[in-house]
Amino acid sequence: MHYCMTEEQNNKIIAKPFVKWAGGKGTLIKQLIEHLPSNFKDQQNVTYIEPFVGGGAMLFYMLTHYPNIKHAIINDVNQDLINCYQLIKKDPIKLITLLKCLRDEFYQLTSIDEQSKYYYQKRKKYNNNELSIEERAACFIFLNKTCFNGLYRVNTSGKFNVPFGKYKTPKICDEDVIMADHKVLQNVDIFSGEYNNITKHLGKKYNFIYIDPPYRPLSESACFIEYTHNIFNDTEQEKLKIYCDMLTQKDCKVMQSNSNSIDNDGKPYFVKLYDTYHINQVKAHRFINAHAGKREKETELLIMNYETHQ
Ligand SMILES: C[S@@+](CC[C@H](N)C(=O)[O-])C[C@H]1O[C@@H](n2cnc3c(N)ncnc32)[C@H](O)[C@@H]1O
Repeated sequence: MHYCMTEEQNNKIIAKPFVKWAGGKGTLIKQLIEHLPSNFKDQQNVTYIEPFVGGGAMLFYMLTHYPNIKHAIINDVNQDLINCYQLIKKDPIKLITLLKCLRDEFYQLTSIDEQSKYYYQKRKKYNNNELSIEERAACFIFLNKTCFNGLYRVNTSGKFNVPFGKYKTPKICDEDVIMADHKVLQNVDIFSGEYNNITKHLGKKYNFIYIDPPYRPLSESACFIEYTHNIFNDTEQEKLKIYCDMLTQKDCKVMQSNSNSIDNDGKPYFVKLYDTYHINQVKAHRFINAHAGKREKETELLIMNYETHQ
C-alpha cells in the first residue's frame, strides 16, 4: 500500500541533528521532556531558546512536537556550525548540491589511503579559509561525517585538527534530514556568538530556555571541554549562574543540563552553586567505568528555576 505522508508528519519523523556533536542530547530527550514545566504544552506563543545549541537534538525535538512554540532563537559560539544552520534555513538545495559533489568524489575513491588523502586536502582548505561561505558549510558537514567520531576540536591557533575517521561509506549528504530541518527552521532566529547574545531577543510572552553548556569535568582525567579554543572553566560556570539568575528575574523558565561534578571539598559542585534552584539527577547513556562488574550508568544533572513533578 502506498502511504503518502503529510508535510507535518514528514517533519515530525525526520527533523533532527544534521551533524554528530559532542555532548549531543539525542539519548536524553525523553528525560528532558519529563522535566519541562508541568503546564508547558498549555502555554500559548512560546519562544524556545537554546543559547548553546550544538547539534540541536532538543531543538529539533521541541520544534516537531510542540506546536505552541511559535518562535525560537538559537545561538552557538561555533560560527561555522551556525553558518550551516543559516544555510539550511535559507538555501538547503545549494548545500545539498555541494554535499552531493563531495560525497560522489569521496565514494569514487576505492582505497582508505586515497580517501584519507582527500579528507586531509579538504581539512587544509577549510583551515586555510579557501572556501566560499556555502562551500565552507558543506565542508564543515563533510568533515563532521568523515572525521574521527564526529568530533570538533581545534588547536591553539583555532585550526580544526581531528584525524580521518576511516569509515567506509559515511552518510555525507542526508538530503531528507536537511530538507526536514529547513522546514522547521523557518521560525528560528539563528545567531553566532557568546550565549548572552540571546538576551536582547527574548520574546514578550513565555520564554523557555534550555541551557546545555560545556560540562564541568567529573574529574581532571575526564576533561573534555574544549569545543572551540574557548575554555569553559569554573569562572565561566559561575558567570552562567549569574546569567540564569538574571533570566529568572525576567520570568523566563530555565532548564540547564550539566555534570554531577564533585568539588574539591567532596560536595556536588552544582548543588552548592545553584542552591535556590530545583535539581534532579538523570541517567546518562554513558557508563562511569568500562571495567566489567562496574558498569554503572553516569548520572548528570538537570537544574531548573521551576518545580517539576519528578
Ligand atoms: C554540550 S554542547 C551542546 C550540545 C547540544 N545540546 C546537542 O544536543 O548537540 C555545548 C555547546 O556550547 C557551545 N559553546 C561553548 N562555549 C560557548 C559560549 N561561551 N557561548 C555560546 N556557546 C558556547 C559549543 O560550541 C557547543 O556546541
